[in-house]
Amino acid sequence: MNIKLSITTLALLLLLLASNVTAQPGVFNIRKYGAPNGDITNALKNAWKEACESRSRSKVVVPSGRYKLQQIDLEGPCKAPIEVKVNGIIQAPKNPFHLNGQDQWIRFQYINFFTLSGKGTFDGQGEMAWKQNDCGRNTNCKRLAMNFGFAFLNNSVIKDINSKDSKYFHANVFGCNNVTFTNFNINAPESSPNTDGIHIGKSSRVKISNSKIGSGDDCISLGDGSTQITIQNVTCGPGHGISVGSLGKYPNEDPVVDLIVKNCTLNNTDNGVRIKTWPGTSVISIASHLHFEDIVMVNVSNPIIIDQQYCPWNQCSKQSPSKIKIRKVIFKNIRGTSATQEGVSLICSRGVPCEAVVLSDINLSFNGSEVTAKCANVNPKIRRKAPICALPHA
Ligand SMILES: *[C@@H]1O[C@H](CO)[C@@H](O)[C@H](O)[C@H]1NC(C)=O
Ligand SMILES: *[C@@H]1O[C@H](CO)[C@@H](O)[C@H](O)[C@H]1NC(C)=O
Ligand SMILES: *[C@@H]1O[C@H](CO)[C@@H](O)[C@H](O)[C@H]1NC(C)=O
Ligand SMILES: *[C@@H]1O[C@H](CO)[C@@H](O)[C@H](O)[C@H]1NC(C)=O
Ligand SMILES: *[C@@H]1O[C@H](CO)[C@@H](O)[C@H](O)[C@H]1NC(C)=O
Ligand SMILES: *[C@@H]1O[C@H](CO)[C@@H](O)[C@H](O)[C@H]1NC(C)=O
Ligand SMILES: *[C@@H]1O[C@H](CO)[C@@H](O)[C@H](O)[C@H]1NC(C)=O
Ligand SMILES: *[C@@H]1O[C@H](CO)[C@@H](O)[C@H](O)[C@H]1NC(C)=O
Repeated sequence: MNIKLSITTLALLLLLLASNVTAQPGVFNIRKYGAPNGDITNALKNAWKEACESRSRSKVVVPSGRYKLQQIDLEGPCKAPIEVKVNGIIQAPKNPFHLNGQDQWIRFQYINFFTLSGKGTFDGQGEMAWKQNDCGRNTNCKRLAMNFGFAFLNNSVIKDINSKDSKYFHANVFGCNNVTFTNFNINAPESSPNTDGIHIGKSSRVKISNSKIGSGDDCISLGDGSTQITIQNVTCGPGHGISVGSLGKYPNEDPVVDLIVKNCTLNNTDNGVRIKTWPGTSVISIASHLHFEDIVMVNVSNPIIIDQQYCPWNQCSKQSPSKIKIRKVIFKNIRGTSATQEGVSLICSRGVPCEAVVLSDINLSFNGSEVTAKCANVNPKIRRKAPICALPHA
């Protein structure tokens, strides 16, 4: 009787415990898979594998807590929509050599209807790697690992997640179609080298909204083949601002077409909204239909800038002009403060001058007075209020 009771109690207890972990069908809690020394690498791999095989919608859950994670690739295709919900804090190895030589810490790829959600944080623990970064001096520098690679995703959403202190860029978006980032917040110190926020390339219909991005490099940058991109309700700073480019460095680049940047704030960034292309190469391409509207600048060094002589660390020759054609660009309702007198700088290519550039409602001040504009190889249409172009000094 006594024994029977205790067995029943035990069974009940076990059942309760088990149901605690796999409460709903389609939910794969990584706690069920074990985490030696707090390391969830194998747990996440195994949970993903099962969830991905599921014939109905599934969810992998990383509950709140602190975890370690090694380099990992989570790949589809999966049999049904799949979500990874992270509420915990997940830390990368500090040592950049402990990532199997991979250029991304966590890679999500070849997935349709993928969601990454939760209030969690992915902490790249980049401090040790930043000290080893010599990409400012050495063009053949070793690439450090990014926090995230999102590659070949369709119809996917990344929301409410935090990315912190990546060793290199925070997120690379490549070969994606219809992917939304919302409330995806990025935080790395101003002094951390090449910790760009989100870089997009060869992707279409990518939307970034309602996010805060602070880093040591570009907030968001669009590489070649970015089309139908929307950036809305985003606050950037510190960092280097929102950039199209750099373009024209590598052969066979695809055009950048259809960008809308709307209702964004740039706070104490080096640049505001920028288009940058390399001179001295034979790469022919275009960047067109770029729309920047309702932007607030707070003490930004170069609020509005087209730079077709982009050539950091003298890595190129400025002898031959950039062959990237820039056309149909609108800067509209851009206001706030500049940290320099020359708030607008449109330096286009003498080989392929910019076409159909509009400055409309530009109200930027420096030290209490209106900013000036310098322009080359472009004749911008001025609508309503904007500084008048002067030729740059030789
Ligand atoms: C994503 O869409 C492209 C284009 O329609 C398709 O070729 C590819 O197979 C899709 N990828 C997945 C993982 O569904
Ligand atoms: C884009 O992806 C979202 C999220 O999966 C989906 O709800 C939406 O229907 C997709 N849009 C199109 C046009 O396929
Ligand atoms: C931008 O923020 C406004 C106000 O909070 C909201 O109504 C709108 O939907 C947001 N836009 C996007 C693209 O999320
Ligand atoms: C603009 O974006 C901010 C967040 O950066 C948001 O609070 C505000 O509601 C947005 N305004 C509009 C008109 O969308
Ligand atoms: C700009 O950033 C500073 C801190 O870096 C903050 O105190 C200030 O409120 C921000 N301003 C705006 C308009 O977001
Ligand atoms: C404005 O930006 C300049 C240049 O980055 C910086 O030196 C200065 O401290 C900033 N001012 C404020 C009030 O943040
Ligand atoms: C430009 O901005 C200043 C400072 O915010 C403001 O006082 C002024 O009215 C604005 N001018 C126009 C034409 O909007
Ligand atoms: C800012 O303006 C004040 C007064 O107009 C002037 O004395 C000062 O030199 C200016 N500062 C800079 C950095 O131009």
